[in-house]
Amino acid sequence: MDEFALNPLYEKVIDGLAEQKYSVVDGFFTDAEVQGLRDGLLAKFEAERFKKSAIGNQANEQVQTAVRGDFILWLDEETATGAEKAFFDTIKDFTQYLNRTCYMGIAKQEFHYALYPEGTFYKRHLDTFQNDSSRKLSMVCYLNDEDWKPEYGGELTLYLNDNGTEKALDIYPVKGRVVVFESQVLEHEVKPVKQKRLSITGWLKTREY
Ligand code: OGA
Ligand code: MN
Repeated sequence: MDEFALNPLYEKVIDGLAEQKYSVVDGFFTDAEVQGLRDGLLAKFEAERFKKSAIGNQANEQVQTAVRGDFILWLDEETATGAEKAFFDTIKDFTQYLNRTCYMGIAKQEFHYALYPEGTFYKRHLDTFQNDSSRKLSMVCYLNDEDWKPEYGGELTLYLNDNGTEKALDIYPVKGRVVVFESQVLEHEVKPVKQKRLSITGWLKTREY
């Protein structure tokens, strides 16, 4: 394939980011890719490899269920299995595209599986840490198996600035949907879930200064 051909999915993400600081793209990953990642997530969760999520980074990590109730497992590129390897290949391809076409300066990425058990949520927050501003783009890929019904809850709510007025946008975690947004700009939350909610969440990062 032509190395410089336009990729319509990536262009959609870029247009959304440029116009509104976020983008929602369905079908970013194929059904087979989503299924492979979902199977990988569930196998590792059942093998008890997930841990209770925390807030803050390594330097000041704290488990706070009143803020955040999901369980996570960081993905390790070195030991990635088939579906995870393919996932990282796509992320790298996407990153190179962003750097080449938008000079984004993405140098690293980090991703974790996340599972929100029934009754959990993640209160309104920003995806940056006080002592590290290297997270540039947040990227969430939903791995739920069926059409997510509104009564399951678990919306990702983005708080947008509409000419000085705050506007809340609810996004349902539908299978194969990818949401990308500016980590340092958009506050957001995960509303309480009434049904187990699965995703891969991560960050495209610049170098740390
Ligand atoms: C996060 C987060 C959103 C989502 O993990 O920081 O905000 O929709 N996740 O899962
Ligand atoms: Mn977040």
